[in-house]
Amino acid sequence: MEILLAKSAGFCFGVTRAVNTVYEEIEKHKEGENRKIYTFGPIIHNEEVVNDLERKGVEVVNSIEEFDTLEKGTVIIRSHGVSKSVYDKIKEKGFDIIDATCPFVKKIHDTVFEKGKENYEIVIIGNAKHPEVEGIKGWCITKTTIINTEEDALAFETEETSKLCIVSQTTFNYKKFNYLVEILAKKLYDIIVVNTICNATNERQLEARKIAKSVDTMIVIGGKSSSNTQKLYEICKEECENTFFIQTVEDMKNLKLLPSKAIGITAGASTPKNIIEEVQNYVRIKF
Ligand code: F3S
Repeated sequence: MEILLAKSAGFCFGVTRAVNTVYEEIEKHKEGENRKIYTFGPIIHNEEVVNDLERKGVEVVNSIEEFDTLEKGTVIIRSHGVSKSVYDKIKEKGFDIIDATCPFVKKIHDTVFEKGKENYEIVIIGNAKHPEVEGIKGWCITKTTIINTEEDALAFETEETSKLCIVSQTTFNYKKFNYLVEILAKKLYDIIVVNTICNATNERQLEARKIAKSVDTMIVIGGKSSSNTQKLYEICKEECENTFFIQTVEDMKNLKLLPSKAIGITAGASTPKNIIEEVQNYVRIKF
């Protein structure tokens, strides 16, 4: 039996970099640097990784206020990034910062900040409640609007003479982004559109579809509440009826898998490599 493991399964570049940063800090800690390590928000939406880090002494801080009562130390900013004011406040409170903001997200911060200086209004296409969008908004210095739906785009109003710079949340759907931009473009002349959608999500989905098409059984690994894993599952299910959504190798034991000539494996953005390997090894041994 053949096993097809998606190359793009699991962590993207930005998340790998952020998680590695935390582990590197832990290592320095072992070598004698005795400062507390914090992450601002969970470094990744994966309980196992966060619990492992906690066991190694890394604490998750969820609000700026919490820093008032904490021992001084190093704060690692996760790949989503944070607003400028959060950054400044952490420093003011006497903590060191290691910025593991994904460089693609950092580029959006720089774009909105620079365009703001040139008096451009900013439109962020994305979900207002997502931490990445909150962070981007926090680098805007001119009027900023967040647009997530067709209704938002239709309702958008500004001075006819305004200049507009449109950016996007990195994980936004490309088709929907173009559609919303089209609506906005009818309202104003001076528009700069910076497509800041990251390819990692798209590539993972394309590869998952391709593999699912060519196998009899497809396994999608990821957290239950992970929306990108859910999306991967739906894509694979469209192509391969025998698609299963699992969280860890433990779930494999309860699956009733039919004999297959080829099994495909992919994983959502917050699934660590070791979990993917465990599943791959399990499939190899059992089938
Ligand atoms: Fe990941 Fe950075 Fe793209 S965090 S999804 S590589 S924007």
